[in-house]
Formats: sequence, C-alpha cells, structure tokens
Amino acid sequence: MDYHRQTSLKDHNSFKTEALAKIFCQPKSVEELRKSLAGHRDEKKLIVGEGCNIFFTKDFDGLVIHPAIKGLREISDEDEEDEDIFIEVNASENWDEFVAYCVERGFAGLENLSLIPGTVGAAPVQNIGAYGAEVKDVIHEVVAIDMENGEGVSFSNTECEFGYRDSIFKRTGRYCIISVVFHLKRTFIYTPKYFDLNKELEDMENPTIQDVRNAVIRVRQRKLPDEKVLPNAGSFFKNPYITQEQADRIKIDYPELPAFLQKTGLVKTSAAFLIDKAGYKGARTGDIGTYPTQPLIIVNYGARDGNEIVRFMKEIQRTVKDTFNIELEPEVRIF
Ligand code: EPU
Repeated sequence: MDYHRQTSLKDHNSFKTEALAKIFCQPKSVEELRKSLAGHRDEKKLIVGEGCNIFFTKDFDGLVIHPAIKGLREISDEDEEDEDIFIEVNASENWDEFVAYCVERGFAGLENLSLIPGTVGAAPVQNIGAYGAEVKDVIHEVVAIDMENGEGVSFSNTECEFGYRDSIFKRTGRYCIISVVFHLKRTFIYTPKYFDLNKELEDMENPTIQDVRNAVIRVRQRKLPDEKVLPNAGSFFKNPYITQEQADRIKIDYPELPAFLQKTGLVKTSAAFLIDKAGYKGARTGDIGTYPTQPLIIVNYGARDGNEIVRFMKEIQRTVKDTFNIELEPEVRIF
C-alpha cells in the first residue's frame, strides 16, 4: 500500500475545502488497515469515508485513512421463510447503492434513508436520519478496529451509544469502522411518520417499498442541493432541544414555530425555521451562503478556505442567539 505525503483533502470533503494531510493512505483490506495503524502508532489519525459530513480549516498533522474496504454478505439467507434478515456490509460501500440493493430485494428498514450521501461506515458515526427514521433502528452490530491498540472490537446496538446525530464513534474518534451488520425485515408496511413524505405518497393506497424510496428521492431532489454541483455537507446544524417555556415565549411572536414535545419533557424545534426567521434564508456572505429552499444547509459557492464557512456559521449562531436565545450546535464535523 502506498503512503502519500502532503496530500490534498479537497476531493475528500464534500464542502471542497482545501487542506493537506501530512500522510494519506487507502487500505483495501482489514490487513492493510492494521498495517497502516501499526506503522504510524504515534501519529494522530482521521478516518474519512466520502467526506460528506466534514470539512477542514487547517492541514491535518497526522495520518488520514481513506478506507477502500468493499463487500457485502447476507448472513441469514438460507431460510427464505425467515422474516428477519441480517446483512453485513463493509464500510466503504456507498450508502445509497446499499439502500437500492435492499429495496430491490424487498428488504425493509432503510428506504426512508434513500439518497443520503456517504459510505456505509459513516452511517453509524452520526446516526444518519431522515423522514422519521434513524439508522440506529436497523443496526445490529458495528465491527471496528480500536485505533489506540489495533485490536478488533464489536459493538452491539446499545454499545454504540446512539443519540440524535451522535454515537460513541463520533464522540471518541477512536474507532475505525470496518463493517456494519443490519437487521432488516422481509415484510414491508408503510407507516406514515413524516409530513413531507406522507404528502408525496398521499395518492397511493398501499405504497410499496420502491414507491417510498422513489418518493424520498423526489422530495430530497426538490429540496436539497446536490453536493457534486454545489458543495455542502447536508444539514449544518442539529435541530435544537429547548424548554416548553422557551417554546411558548417564541410562539408569542412566531405561532407557527415547529415544536415536538419529547419524552424527556424538552421540545425539539426546527433549526431551519430559526435560521429562516433570523433572516438567513438564501443569505450569502462572500462565497458562503444558505441554500434558498433549505436554510439549514450551508453551501459553498467557491471558497477554498474552511475558515470562511466557520465565520458564516458563527454569524448565523450569533444572530439566532440574539433573536431567540437558542444556541445552534453544528452537526457537521470541523477539523
Ligand atoms: N423550515 C422553514 N423554512 C425553510 C425550510 C424549512 O421554516 O425554508 C422549517 C419548516 O417548519 C419545516 C421544518 O423546517 O417543517 C423542517 O424542515 P425539514 O423537513 O427539511 O427537516 P429538517 O429538520 O430541517 C431534518 C434532518 C435532515 C433530513 C430531514 C428530513 C437534521 C439536522 N436534519 O432536517 O437531515 O433530511 O430532517 O427528514 O436533523 C442531514 O442530517 O444532513 C439531513 C439532511
């Protein structure tokens, strides 16, 4: 395996920010991955999949690993009668190609997560979610290498410590995911969960799994920018949790504030709404702006320096804080 020095990371983050990796490698097997870790014990390490939820503000002084470990196996395919199906997928498979594979075979559980950019290995890191579904609901096990000692570790669903766009993998940065085992179902019944998607499917009596995938793709393509055309990293901020009192206070001026009461007693509200009402829908400062139809997405019109994104991020955070007294927390990882 080759090690490259001072390698540009521009094509390894969907925001297209420019930064150099001191060392860069692409292991094609678990063996190569182990070797790269063992040979660089004292270096800082960063795993980058397709780089769809990350950008750089400076060079990375260490080893950047871009795994190219592909492959998939159905674990429980002997018994076609079995309602449950387990599939182990290696980390570098493309997420949406895997979703398409499952939908074609009628394996249910991933269809709402259609068209999310990135790799299979990145999905558990930030517990990707859309249209009322989260990947944690179908993850059985995550297999990884502990980068501190090179040993193999396996995490059950609970051990992944999943939260809203969060997991042990995101919090510690210590594990390199090599495969994910999914637990899917052979029977599909559409359960309405999300306004936008229900609306798209309202004329269909019993939508099939393929109908749902197609509807998700249509909604996403209408609303979200394609990162290959206009660099971005999806939702930039997390949707914030606020107290009921805070929500009630904001509703005096903005009765249409989206507010979903959680089991914890907190209220989940919409970052897109707050950014929109703070005057940042379709705003632009220099080469950075928010997307006109979904202000939660920050887009890059041509900047190479990730610090420009950070400046714009802070401008939005400050204005939302001044207007609503709510702190927006980035969902994207900034290096
Ligand atoms: N809204 C506005 N103005 C706008 C657009 C939206 O006020 O211009 C408000 C509306 O009230 C709307 C609400 O924002 O009802 C929610 O918008 P949307 O349905 O687009 O969802 P979101 O909460 O902004 C989340 C995820 C997305 C996921 C969608 C669909 C997060 C951080 N984002 O966005 O995930 O695709 O739901 O399920 O939870 C991602 O994480 O990168 C991502 C794209």
